[in-house]
Amino acid sequence: MTSSEIRKRFLDFFAKRGHAILPSASLVPENDPSVLFNTAGMQPLVPYLMGQKHPLGARLASCQKCVRTGDLEDIGDNRHFSFFEMLGNWSLGDYFKQEAISWSYEFLTSKEEGLGLDPARLAVTLFEGDENAPFDQESKDIWMSLGIPEHRIFALPAEDNWWSPGDNGPCGPCSEMFYDMNGDFLGQEISKESFVEQVKKETFIEIWNDVFMEYEKKDGKVIGKLSQKNVDTGAGLERITAVMQGKNTAYDTDILSGVMEMVKSGSVNYGERSARIITDHLRTATFMIADGVFPSNKDRGYVLRRIIRRAAFRVGQLGLSQESYTQVISAITEKYESIYNIEKNKISEIFNQEVTKFTKTLDAGLKEFEKGVDPFLLATTYGFPIELTEELAKEKGIAIDRADFDVKMKAHQDLSRSGSEQKFKGGLANTNEATVKLHTAHHLLLAALQEVVDKNIHQRGSNITEERLRMDFSFDRKVTPEELQKVETLVNSWIEAKLPVVRREMPREEAEKLGAEMEFGAKYPDIVSVYTIQNTNDEYVSKEFCGGPHVTNTSEIGKFKIQKEEASSAGVRRIKAVIE
Ligand code: ALA
Repeated sequence: MTSSEIRKRFLDFFAKRGHAILPSASLVPENDPSVLFNTAGMQPLVPYLMGQKHPLGARLASCQKCVRTGDLEDIGDNRHFSFFEMLGNWSLGDYFKQEAISWSYEFLTSKEEGLGLDPARLAVTLFEGDENAPFDQESKDIWMSLGIPEHRIFALPAEDNWWSPGDNGPCGPCSEMFYDMNGDFLGQEISKESFVEQVKKETFIEIWNDVFMEYEKKDGKVIGKLSQKNVDTGAGLERITAVMQGKNTAYDTDILSGVMEMVKSGSVNYGERSARIITDHLRTATFMIADGVFPSNKDRGYVLRRIIRRAAFRVGQLGLSQESYTQVISAITEKYESIYNIEKNKISEIFNQEVTKFTKTLDAGLKEFEKGVDPFLLATTYGFPIELTEELAKEKGIAIDRADFDVKMKAHQDLSRSGSEQKFKGGLANTNEATVKLHTAHHLLLAALQEVVDKNIHQRGSNITEERLRMDFSFDRKVTPEELQKVETLVNSWIEAKLPVVRREMPREEAEKLGAEMEFGAKYPDIVSVYTIQNTNDEYVSKEFCGGPHVTNTSEIGKFKIQKEEASSAGVRRIKAVIE
Protein backbone atom coordinates (compact mmCIF):
# COMPACT_ATOMS: atom_id res chain seq x y z
CA MET A 1 0.00 0.00 0.00
CA THR A 2 1.44 3.37 -0.98
CA SER A 3 1.69 6.28 1.46
CA SER A 4 -0.94 8.17 -0.56
CA GLU A 5 -3.31 5.24 -0.28
CA ILE A 6 -2.74 5.07 3.50
CA ARG A 7 -3.40 8.78 3.89
CA LYS A 8 -6.56 8.51 1.81
CA ARG A 9 -7.83 5.40 3.59
CA PHE A 10 -7.36 7.03 6.97
CA LEU A 11 -9.27 10.18 6.06
CA ASP A 12 -12.03 8.20 4.27
CA PHE A 13 -12.38 5.88 7.25
CA PHE A 14 -13.01 8.76 9.63
CA ALA A 15 -15.11 10.78 7.17
CA LYS A 16 -17.42 7.77 6.98
CA ARG A 17 -17.71 7.87 10.76
CA GLY A 18 -18.93 11.44 10.85
CA HIS A 19 -15.61 13.33 10.97
CA ALA A 20 -15.07 16.58 9.07
CA ILE A 21 -11.73 16.41 7.23
CA LEU A 22 -9.51 19.41 7.92
CA PRO A 23 -6.78 20.47 5.52
CA SER A 24 -3.33 20.52 7.16
CA ALA A 25 -2.70 23.81 8.93
CA SER A 26 0.53 25.70 8.15
CA LEU A 27 3.66 24.50 9.93
CA VAL A 28 3.78 27.95 11.50
CA PRO A 29 1.25 28.04 14.35
CA GLU A 30 -1.34 30.77 14.32
CA ASN A 31 -1.84 32.62 17.61
CA ASP A 32 0.25 30.17 19.59
CA PRO A 33 3.52 31.64 20.81
CA SER A 34 4.35 28.54 22.87
CA VAL A 35 5.85 26.62 19.93
CA LEU A 36 7.83 27.65 16.84
CA PHE A 37 6.29 24.95 14.63
CA ASN A 38 3.33 22.61 14.82
CA THR A 39 4.68 19.46 16.40
CA ALA A 40 1.48 17.40 16.47
CA GLY A 41 -1.87 17.22 14.71
CA MET A 42 -3.64 18.56 17.79
CA GLN A 43 -1.66 21.78 18.01
CA PRO A 44 -3.92 23.87 15.76
CA LEU A 45 -6.91 22.50 17.70
CA VAL A 46 -5.90 23.56 21.22
CA PRO A 47 -8.63 26.21 21.64
CA TYR A 48 -11.28 23.65 20.64
CA LEU A 49 -9.90 21.00 22.96
CA MET A 50 -10.18 23.63 25.70
CA GLY A 51 -13.88 24.07 24.99
CA GLN A 52 -14.36 26.57 22.16
CA LYS A 53 -16.86 25.37 19.50
CA HIS A 54 -15.28 24.27 16.22
CA PRO A 55 -17.20 25.50 13.16
CA LEU A 56 -17.01 22.07 11.52
CA GLY A 57 -18.38 20.15 14.49
CA ALA A 58 -17.18 17.86 17.25
CA ARG A 59 -15.57 15.13 15.10
CA LEU A 60 -12.52 16.07 13.09
CA ALA A 61 -9.69 14.30 11.28
CA SER A 62 -6.63 15.49 9.39
CA CYS A 63 -3.22 14.73 8.03
CA GLN A 64 -1.07 17.49 9.57
CA LYS A 65 2.42 18.62 8.60
CA CYS A 66 4.67 18.54 11.68
CA VAL A 67 8.22 19.60 12.47
CA ARG A 68 10.27 18.42 15.44
CA THR A 69 13.84 19.67 15.66
CA GLY A 70 14.61 18.80 19.26
CA ASP A 71 16.98 15.99 18.36
CA LEU A 72 18.61 16.89 15.06
CA GLU A 73 21.70 14.85 15.90
CA ASP A 74 19.60 11.66 15.81
CA ILE A 75 18.56 12.25 12.24
CA GLY A 76 20.03 9.67 9.94
CA ASP A 77 18.87 6.75 12.09
CA ASN A 78 15.79 4.72 11.11
CA ARG A 79 13.21 6.56 13.08
CA HIS A 80 13.84 10.29 13.54
CA PHE A 81 12.61 12.81 10.98
CA SER A 82 12.62 16.55 11.38
CA PHE A 83 9.50 16.74 9.20
CA PHE A 84 6.68 14.21 9.16
CA GLU A 85 2.98 13.94 8.54
CA MET A 86 0.67 12.97 11.37
CA LEU A 87 -2.68 11.31 10.81
CA GLY A 88 -5.17 12.06 13.55
CA ASN A 89 -8.82 12.02 14.56
CA TRP A 90 -10.46 14.09 17.27
CA SER A 91 -13.52 14.12 19.39
CA LEU A 92 -14.23 17.51 20.94
CA GLY A 93 -16.37 16.44 23.87
CA ASP A 94 -18.20 13.94 21.65
CA TYR A 95 -17.23 10.22 21.67
CA PHE A 96 -14.65 8.93 24.16
CA LYS A 97 -12.64 5.77 24.85
CA GLN A 98 -15.07 3.15 23.49
CA GLU A 99 -15.28 4.57 19.97
CA ALA A 100 -11.71 5.90 19.85
CA ILE A 101 -10.13 2.55 20.69
CA SER A 102 -12.57 0.48 18.61
CA TRP A 103 -11.96 2.64 15.55
CA SER A 104 -8.20 2.58 16.01
CA TYR A 105 -8.37 -1.20 16.16
CA GLU A 106 -10.71 -1.42 13.20
CA PHE A 107 -8.58 0.86 11.02
CA LEU A 108 -5.41 -1.05 11.86
CA THR A 109 -6.89 -4.49 11.21
CA SER A 110 -9.69 -4.13 8.65
CA LYS A 111 -8.66 -5.35 5.19
CA GLU A 112 -11.54 -3.58 3.45
CA GLU A 113 -11.37 -0.14 4.97
CA GLY A 114 -8.09 0.00 6.86
CA LEU A 115 -4.60 -1.43 6.85
CA GLY A 116 -5.37 -5.11 7.32
CA LEU A 117 -2.63 -5.66 9.92
CA ASP A 118 -2.52 -9.00 11.72
CA PRO A 119 -4.05 -8.52 15.23
CA ALA A 120 -1.66 -11.17 16.57
CA ARG A 121 1.20 -8.72 15.91
CA LEU A 122 -0.27 -5.89 17.98
CA ALA A 123 0.48 -4.92 21.56
CA VAL A 124 -0.91 -1.95 23.47
CA THR A 125 0.03 0.17 26.44
CA LEU A 126 -2.12 2.23 28.76
CA PHE A 127 -1.81 4.44 31.83
CA GLU A 128 -0.96 2.70 35.12
CA GLY A 129 -2.32 5.49 37.33
CA ASP A 130 -0.81 8.06 39.68
CA GLU A 131 -1.88 10.94 41.91
CA ASN A 132 -3.43 12.76 38.92
CA ALA A 133 -5.58 9.99 37.47
CA PRO A 134 -6.42 6.35 38.16
CA PHE A 135 -5.28 3.21 36.33
CA ASP A 136 -7.05 3.13 32.95
CA GLN A 137 -9.25 0.07 33.51
CA GLU A 138 -11.81 1.25 30.96
CA SER A 139 -9.29 1.18 28.10
CA LYS A 140 -8.06 -2.20 29.23
CA ASP A 141 -11.60 -3.62 29.17
CA ILE A 142 -12.19 -2.20 25.71
CA TRP A 143 -8.95 -3.64 24.29
CA MET A 144 -9.77 -7.05 25.79
CA SER A 145 -13.31 -6.95 24.38
CA LEU A 146 -11.74 -6.41 20.95
CA GLY A 147 -9.66 -9.55 21.38
CA ILE A 148 -6.28 -8.20 22.49
CA PRO A 149 -5.08 -10.75 25.07
CA GLU A 150 -4.36 -9.47 28.56
CA HIS A 151 -0.68 -10.39 28.24
CA ARG A 152 -0.36 -8.00 25.30
CA ILE A 153 -1.63 -5.03 27.33
CA PHE A 154 1.00 -3.19 29.36
CA ALA A 155 0.35 -0.54 32.00
CA LEU A 156 3.05 2.12 32.07
CA PRO A 157 3.67 5.30 34.10
CA ALA A 158 3.00 8.92 33.13
CA GLU A 159 6.44 9.22 31.60
CA ASP A 160 5.28 6.90 28.81
CA ASN A 161 1.50 7.10 28.86
CA TRP A 162 0.51 10.64 29.71
CA TRP A 163 0.57 12.95 26.73
CA SER A 164 0.65 16.75 26.71
CA PRO A 165 1.91 19.20 24.10
CA GLY A 166 3.92 21.15 26.69
CA ASP A 167 3.67 22.58 30.19
CA ASN A 168 0.34 24.22 29.57
CA GLY A 169 -2.90 23.13 27.97
CA PRO A 170 -4.97 20.01 27.41
CA CYS A 171 -3.50 16.62 28.27
CA GLY A 172 -4.40 13.18 29.48
CA PRO A 173 -3.61 9.50 29.78
CA CYS A 174 -2.98 7.69 26.53
CA SER A 175 -3.08 4.25 25.04
CA GLU A 176 -0.44 3.44 22.44
CA MET A 177 -0.46 0.73 19.80
CA PHE A 178 2.67 -1.16 18.82
CA TYR A 179 3.42 -3.50 15.94
CA ASP A 180 5.72 -6.52 16.04
CA MET A 181 7.88 -5.65 13.01
CA ASN A 182 9.24 -9.10 12.23
CA GLY A 183 6.43 -11.20 13.65
CA ASP A 184 8.89 -12.67 16.15
CA PHE A 185 6.36 -12.69 18.98
CA LEU A 186 3.25 -14.09 17.26
CA GLY A 187 0.93 -15.50 19.87
CA GLN A 188 3.66 -15.39 22.51
CA GLU A 189 3.30 -14.11 26.02
CA ILE A 190 5.85 -11.44 26.78
CA SER A 191 6.69 -9.84 30.08
CA LYS A 192 6.48 -6.09 30.52
CA GLU A 193 10.27 -5.88 30.93
CA SER A 194 10.87 -7.79 27.74
CA PHE A 195 8.28 -5.69 25.87
CA VAL A 196 9.96 -2.45 26.98
CA GLU A 197 13.27 -3.95 25.86
CA GLN A 198 11.86 -4.84 22.42
CA VAL A 199 10.52 -1.31 22.00
CA LYS A 200 14.03 0.02 22.61
CA LYS A 201 15.37 -2.40 20.01
CA GLU A 202 12.67 -1.27 17.58
CA THR A 203 11.30 -4.77 17.07
CA PHE A 204 8.02 -3.38 18.45
CA ILE A 205 7.27 -0.05 16.81
CA GLU A 206 4.79 2.49 18.12
CA ILE A 207 2.30 3.19 15.35
CA TRP A 208 -0.58 5.08 16.95
CA ASN A 209 -1.40 7.01 20.07
CA ASP A 210 -4.89 7.59 21.46
CA VAL A 211 -4.88 10.37 24.03
CA PHE A 212 -7.88 10.78 26.30
CA MET A 213 -7.66 14.51 26.81
CA GLU A 214 -9.85 15.35 29.72
CA TYR A 215 -7.24 17.07 31.93
CA GLU A 216 -5.44 20.40 31.93
CA LYS A 217 -1.85 21.29 32.73
CA LYS A 218 -0.61 24.60 34.02
CA ASP A 219 3.07 25.35 34.44
CA GLY A 220 3.87 21.65 34.16
CA LYS A 221 1.33 20.50 36.74
CA VAL A 222 -1.97 18.73 36.15
CA ILE A 223 -4.51 21.10 37.71
CA GLY A 224 -7.79 19.28 37.06
CA LYS A 225 -10.32 18.28 34.46
CA LEU A 226 -11.34 20.19 31.34
CA SER A 227 -14.96 21.13 30.74
CA GLN A 228 -15.22 18.31 28.18
CA LYS A 229 -13.77 14.86 27.49
CA ASN A 230 -11.77 14.90 24.25
CA VAL A 231 -9.99 12.35 22.14
CA ASP A 232 -6.73 13.24 20.36
CA THR A 233 -5.05 10.59 18.26
CA GLY A 234 -1.84 10.62 16.26
CA ALA A 235 -0.26 8.14 13.87
CA GLY A 236 2.94 8.99 12.00
CA LEU A 237 2.43 8.44 8.28
CA GLU A 238 6.12 7.63 7.84
CA ARG A 239 6.01 4.86 10.44
CA ILE A 240 2.75 3.35 9.25
CA THR A 241 4.07 3.35 5.69
CA ALA A 242 7.27 1.60 6.76
CA VAL A 243 5.17 -1.04 8.54
CA MET A 244 2.89 -1.50 5.53
CA GLN A 245 5.80 -1.78 3.13
CA GLY A 246 7.79 -4.09 5.40
CA LYS A 247 10.73 -1.69 5.66
CA ASN A 248 12.83 -0.79 8.68
CA THR A 249 12.77 2.88 7.84
CA ALA A 250 10.70 5.37 5.86
CA TYR A 251 13.82 6.21 3.80
CA ASP A 252 13.19 2.87 2.05
CA THR A 253 9.46 3.44 1.45
CA ASP A 254 7.76 5.16 -1.48
CA ILE A 255 7.83 8.40 0.57
CA LEU A 256 11.59 8.88 0.41
CA SER A 257 13.26 6.09 -1.56
CA GLY A 258 13.05 8.04 -4.85
CA VAL A 259 14.73 11.06 -3.23
CA MET A 260 17.40 8.82 -1.68
CA GLU A 261 18.09 7.33 -5.11
CA MET A 262 18.56 10.80 -6.60
CA VAL A 263 20.97 11.77 -3.85
CA LYS A 264 22.86 8.56 -4.45
CA SER A 265 23.13 8.95 -8.19
CA GLY A 266 24.30 12.56 -7.85
CA SER A 267 26.96 11.71 -5.25
CA VAL A 268 30.66 11.47 -5.88
CA ASN A 269 31.42 9.94 -2.44
CA TYR A 270 28.21 8.25 -1.32
CA GLY A 271 27.50 7.72 2.36
CA GLU A 272 24.13 6.43 3.59
CA ARG A 273 23.93 8.58 6.71
CA SER A 274 24.81 11.78 4.89
CA ALA A 275 22.28 10.92 2.18
CA ARG A 276 19.59 10.41 4.82
CA ILE A 277 20.42 13.73 6.48
CA ILE A 278 20.24 15.53 3.13
CA THR A 279 16.95 13.84 2.27
CA ASP A 280 15.41 14.63 5.64
CA HIS A 281 16.66 18.20 5.81
CA LEU A 282 15.80 19.13 2.23
CA ARG A 283 12.25 17.93 2.76
CA THR A 284 11.95 19.88 6.03
CA ALA A 285 13.45 23.04 4.52
CA THR A 286 11.10 22.72 1.55
CA PHE A 287 8.02 22.63 3.76
CA MET A 288 9.26 25.42 6.04
CA ILE A 289 9.96 27.74 3.13
CA ALA A 290 6.63 26.78 1.55
CA ASP A 291 4.95 27.96 4.75
CA GLY A 292 6.70 31.32 4.64
CA VAL A 293 9.80 30.84 6.80
CA PHE A 294 13.04 32.56 5.71
CA PRO A 295 16.53 31.76 6.95
CA SER A 296 17.57 34.25 9.65
CA ASN A 297 19.27 34.46 13.04
CA LYS A 298 16.10 34.29 15.09
CA ASP A 299 13.47 31.78 16.11
CA ARG A 300 11.96 29.88 13.18
CA GLY A 301 14.35 31.44 10.71
CA TYR A 302 17.27 30.19 12.72
CA VAL A 303 15.90 26.66 12.85
CA LEU A 304 15.61 26.75 9.06
CA ARG A 305 19.11 28.20 8.70
CA ARG A 306 20.55 25.45 10.87
CA ILE A 307 18.81 22.78 8.84
CA ILE A 308 19.96 24.22 5.52
CA ARG A 309 23.54 24.58 6.76
CA ARG A 310 23.66 21.05 8.08
CA ALA A 311 22.33 19.85 4.74
CA ALA A 312 24.83 22.04 2.86
CA PHE A 313 27.71 20.50 4.75
CA ARG A 314 26.52 16.99 3.85
CA VAL A 315 25.96 18.07 0.24
CA GLY A 316 29.62 19.08 0.20
CA GLN A 317 30.67 15.78 1.74
CA LEU A 318 28.89 13.72 -0.90
CA GLY A 319 30.07 16.04 -3.66
CA LEU A 320 26.53 16.75 -4.86
CA SER A 321 26.45 19.49 -7.46
CA GLN A 322 24.05 22.39 -7.21
CA GLU A 323 22.21 20.94 -10.17
CA SER A 324 21.77 17.62 -8.39
CA TYR A 325 20.38 19.01 -5.18
CA THR A 326 18.13 21.39 -7.05
CA GLN A 327 16.72 18.31 -8.79
CA VAL A 328 16.27 16.68 -5.41
CA ILE A 329 14.24 19.67 -4.23
CA SER A 330 12.15 19.44 -7.40
CA ALA A 331 11.51 15.78 -6.77
CA ILE A 332 10.34 16.54 -3.23
CA THR A 333 8.00 19.32 -4.31
CA GLU A 334 6.56 17.17 -7.11
CA LYS A 335 5.86 14.41 -4.65
CA TYR A 336 3.80 16.67 -2.42
CA GLU A 337 2.40 19.42 -4.64
CA SER A 338 -0.92 17.67 -5.24
CA ILE A 339 -1.53 17.63 -1.49
CA TYR A 340 0.12 20.79 -0.18
CA ASN A 341 0.71 24.25 -1.52
CA ILE A 342 4.37 24.41 -2.55
CA GLU A 343 6.08 26.88 -4.89
CA LYS A 344 8.99 25.02 -6.39
CA ASN A 345 10.99 27.93 -7.75
CA LYS A 346 10.82 30.00 -4.62
CA ILE A 347 12.13 27.11 -2.57
CA SER A 348 15.17 26.40 -4.75
CA GLU A 349 15.98 30.10 -4.86
CA ILE A 350 15.93 30.63 -1.10
CA PHE A 351 17.78 27.40 -0.54
CA ASN A 352 20.50 28.30 -3.03
CA GLN A 353 20.98 31.77 -1.55
CA GLU A 354 21.50 30.34 1.89
CA VAL A 355 23.84 27.62 0.67
CA THR A 356 25.91 30.16 -1.27
CA LYS A 357 26.19 32.37 1.79
CA PHE A 358 27.28 29.48 3.97
CA THR A 359 29.66 27.93 1.43
CA LYS A 360 31.71 31.12 1.56
CA THR A 361 32.55 30.58 5.23
CA LEU A 362 32.32 26.79 5.26
CA ASP A 363 35.76 26.11 3.80
CA ALA A 364 37.47 28.71 5.98
CA GLY A 365 35.61 27.30 8.98
CA LEU A 366 36.70 23.77 8.17
CA LYS A 367 40.34 24.98 8.00
CA GLU A 368 39.86 26.67 11.36
CA PHE A 369 38.39 23.43 12.69
CA GLU A 370 41.53 21.56 11.65
CA LYS A 371 43.65 24.01 13.65
CA GLY A 372 41.70 23.50 16.84
CA VAL A 373 38.07 23.06 17.76
CA ASP A 374 36.51 26.21 19.20
CA PRO A 375 32.75 25.78 18.79
CA PHE A 376 32.06 29.36 19.88
CA LEU A 377 34.42 30.83 17.30
CA LEU A 378 33.08 28.49 14.62
CA ALA A 379 29.52 29.56 15.41
CA THR A 380 30.05 33.30 15.66
CA THR A 381 32.65 33.82 12.92
CA TYR A 382 31.96 31.01 10.47
CA GLY A 383 28.26 30.40 11.04
CA PHE A 384 28.68 26.74 12.04
CA PRO A 385 25.60 25.48 13.84
CA ILE A 386 26.72 23.77 17.05
CA GLU A 387 25.24 20.45 15.91
CA LEU A 388 27.51 20.54 12.89
CA THR A 389 30.61 21.22 14.98
CA GLU A 390 29.55 18.44 17.33
CA GLU A 391 29.18 15.97 14.50
CA LEU A 392 32.50 16.88 12.93
CA ALA A 393 34.19 16.61 16.32
CA LYS A 394 32.57 13.27 17.03
CA GLU A 395 33.87 11.87 13.75
CA LYS A 396 37.34 12.85 14.89
CA GLY A 397 36.86 11.57 18.42
CA ILE A 398 37.14 15.08 19.88
CA ALA A 399 34.92 15.97 22.86
CA ILE A 400 32.97 19.21 22.74
CA ASP A 401 32.02 21.03 25.91
CA ARG A 402 28.45 21.83 25.01
CA ALA A 403 27.70 23.53 28.33
CA ASP A 404 30.61 25.90 27.92
CA PHE A 405 29.39 26.70 24.42
CA ASP A 406 25.84 27.29 25.65
CA VAL A 407 27.04 29.60 28.41
CA LYS A 408 29.22 31.63 26.03
CA MET A 409 26.54 31.75 23.38
CA LYS A 410 23.96 32.90 25.86
CA ALA A 411 26.21 35.67 27.08
CA HIS A 412 26.90 36.59 23.46
CA GLN A 413 23.20 36.70 22.64
CA ASP A 414 22.41 38.64 25.82
CA LEU A 415 24.82 41.28 24.68
CA SER A 416 23.66 41.39 21.10
CA ARG A 417 19.97 41.08 21.78
CA SER A 418 19.46 42.72 25.16
CA GLY A 419 16.04 44.25 25.29
CA SER A 420 14.60 41.98 22.64
CA GLU A 421 12.24 39.21 23.57
CA GLN A 422 14.12 36.00 24.07
CA LYS A 423 13.24 32.78 25.79
CA PHE A 424 15.70 31.37 28.30
CA LYS A 425 15.94 27.97 29.87
CA GLY A 426 16.41 29.17 33.43
CA GLY A 427 12.72 29.98 33.69
CA LEU A 428 13.18 33.44 32.22
CA ALA A 429 10.61 34.71 29.74
CA ASN A 430 12.94 37.41 28.41
CA THR A 431 16.08 39.26 29.33
CA ASN A 432 14.99 42.80 29.71
CA GLU A 433 16.05 44.71 32.73
CA ALA A 434 13.07 43.80 34.91
CA THR A 435 13.52 40.07 34.49
CA VAL A 436 17.25 40.26 35.14
CA LYS A 437 16.60 42.10 38.43
CA LEU A 438 13.97 39.57 39.42
CA HIS A 439 16.35 36.76 38.58
CA THR A 440 18.94 38.04 41.06
CA ALA A 441 16.19 38.69 43.62
CA HIS A 442 15.19 35.05 43.14
CA HIS A 443 18.66 33.94 44.29
CA LEU A 444 18.44 36.22 47.32
CA LEU A 445 14.96 34.94 48.18
CA LEU A 446 16.14 31.33 48.26
CA ALA A 447 19.12 32.30 50.43
CA ALA A 448 16.86 34.24 52.83
CA LEU A 449 14.38 31.35 53.11
CA GLN A 450 17.26 29.06 54.03
CA GLU A 451 18.55 31.49 56.62
CA VAL A 452 15.25 32.56 58.20
CA VAL A 453 12.98 29.54 57.80
CA ASP A 454 14.91 26.30 57.26
CA LYS A 455 18.36 25.57 55.88
CA ASN A 456 16.97 22.45 54.14
CA ILE A 457 14.75 24.44 51.79
CA HIS A 458 15.65 23.94 48.13
CA GLN A 459 14.23 25.21 44.90
CA ARG A 460 11.79 22.94 43.05
CA GLY A 461 10.70 25.19 40.22
CA SER A 462 11.02 28.71 38.95
CA ASN A 463 9.35 31.09 36.55
CA ILE A 464 10.16 34.73 35.96
CA THR A 465 8.31 37.26 33.83
CA GLU A 466 8.75 41.01 33.58
CA GLU A 467 6.15 41.50 36.30
CA ARG A 468 7.03 38.99 38.99
CA LEU A 469 9.06 36.02 40.08
CA ARG A 470 7.64 32.73 41.17
CA MET A 471 9.57 30.15 43.14
CA ASP A 472 8.51 26.64 44.16
CA PHE A 473 10.50 25.17 47.02
CA SER A 474 10.54 22.12 49.22
CA PHE A 475 8.88 22.77 52.57
CA ASP A 476 6.03 20.99 54.27
CA ARG A 477 4.09 23.67 56.08
CA LYS A 478 2.86 27.19 55.53
CA VAL A 479 5.51 29.86 55.94
CA THR A 480 4.12 32.18 58.62
CA PRO A 481 3.48 35.88 57.91
CA GLU A 482 6.18 36.74 60.50
CA GLU A 483 8.71 34.54 58.72
CA LEU A 484 7.77 36.04 55.35
CA GLN A 485 8.28 39.51 56.79
CA LYS A 486 11.75 38.54 58.05
CA VAL A 487 12.64 37.00 54.68
CA GLU A 488 11.58 40.15 52.87
CA THR A 489 13.54 42.37 55.26
CA LEU A 490 16.66 40.24 54.89
CA VAL A 491 16.50 40.32 51.08
CA ASN A 492 16.10 44.11 51.18
CA SER A 493 19.04 44.45 53.56
CA TRP A 494 21.23 42.57 51.07
CA ILE A 495 20.01 44.87 48.32
CA GLU A 496 20.78 47.94 50.41
CA ALA A 497 24.25 46.60 51.25
CA LYS A 498 25.20 46.97 47.55
CA LEU A 499 26.78 43.53 47.22
CA PRO A 500 28.56 42.52 44.00
CA VAL A 501 27.11 39.61 41.99
CA VAL A 502 29.92 37.50 40.57
CA ARG A 503 29.88 34.85 37.87
CA ARG A 504 32.59 32.21 37.62
CA GLU A 505 33.11 29.11 35.53
CA MET A 506 34.55 26.16 37.40
CA PRO A 507 34.70 22.36 37.33
CA ARG A 508 31.47 20.83 38.59
CA GLU A 509 33.22 19.14 41.53
CA GLU A 510 34.58 22.46 42.70
CA ALA A 511 31.11 24.00 42.59
CA GLU A 512 29.72 21.04 44.51
CA LYS A 513 32.44 21.41 47.12
CA LEU A 514 31.58 25.07 47.44
CA GLY A 515 28.02 23.94 48.25
CA ALA A 516 26.46 25.86 45.38
CA GLU A 517 22.70 25.40 45.11
CA MET A 518 21.78 23.00 42.32
CA GLU A 519 18.56 22.75 40.42
CA PHE A 520 16.53 19.73 41.50
CA GLY A 521 16.99 16.79 39.11
CA ALA A 522 19.26 18.72 36.72
CA LYS A 523 22.32 17.07 35.17
CA TYR A 524 25.31 19.35 34.99
CA PRO A 525 28.25 19.30 32.60
CA ASP A 526 31.90 19.11 33.68
CA ILE A 527 32.38 22.86 33.61
CA VAL A 528 29.63 24.91 35.17
CA SER A 529 28.74 28.53 35.65
CA VAL A 530 28.19 29.65 39.26
CA TYR A 531 26.82 32.96 40.53
CA THR A 532 27.87 34.05 44.00
CA ILE A 533 26.97 36.97 46.22
CA GLN A 534 29.14 37.68 49.30
CA ASN A 535 28.39 40.06 52.15
CA THR A 536 30.73 42.75 53.47
CA ASN A 537 32.44 40.14 55.72
CA ASP A 538 33.15 38.00 52.64
CA GLU A 539 30.69 35.34 53.82
CA TYR A 540 28.58 33.77 51.12
CA VAL A 541 25.03 35.08 51.01
CA SER A 542 24.14 33.06 47.93
CA LYS A 543 25.84 30.60 45.62
CA GLU A 544 23.98 28.88 42.79
CA PHE A 545 24.70 26.85 39.68
CA CYS A 546 23.22 29.21 37.10
CA GLY A 547 23.73 30.41 33.54
CA GLY A 548 22.50 33.94 34.31
CA PRO A 549 21.94 36.66 33.36
CA HIS A 550 22.09 38.73 36.56
CA VAL A 551 22.62 42.31 37.68
CA THR A 552 26.23 43.07 38.60
CA ASN A 553 25.38 44.58 41.99
CA THR A 554 22.40 43.92 44.27
CA SER A 555 21.82 47.69 44.57
CA GLU A 556 20.42 47.62 41.02
CA ILE A 557 17.46 45.47 42.08
CA GLY A 558 15.18 47.99 43.83
CA LYS A 559 12.67 47.24 46.59
CA PHE A 560 11.73 43.57 46.97
CA LYS A 561 8.22 42.60 48.02
CA ILE A 562 6.63 39.19 48.65
CA GLN A 563 3.06 39.09 47.38
CA LYS A 564 1.86 35.60 48.11
CA GLU A 565 2.78 32.31 49.73
CA GLU A 566 0.73 29.20 49.01
CA ALA A 567 0.84 25.43 48.61
CA SER A 568 2.03 24.24 45.21
CA SER A 569 1.85 20.46 45.64
CA ALA A 570 2.57 17.96 48.39
CA GLY A 571 5.69 19.14 50.25
CA VAL A 572 6.18 22.08 47.90
CA ARG A 573 5.32 25.72 48.61
CA ARG A 574 5.17 28.62 46.19
CA ILE A 575 6.10 32.27 46.62
CA LYS A 576 5.32 35.09 44.24
CA ALA A 577 7.26 38.31 44.62
CA VAL A 578 7.78 41.60 42.80
CA ILE A 579 10.13 44.54 42.60
CA GLU A 580 8.40 47.75 43.57
N1 ALA B 1 -1.00 14.26 20.13
C1 ALA B 1 -0.64 12.89 20.29
C2 ALA B 1 0.76 12.59 19.82
O1 ALA B 1 1.37 13.42 19.20
C3 ALA B 1 -1.62 12.01 19.62
O2 ALA B 1 1.26 11.52 20.09
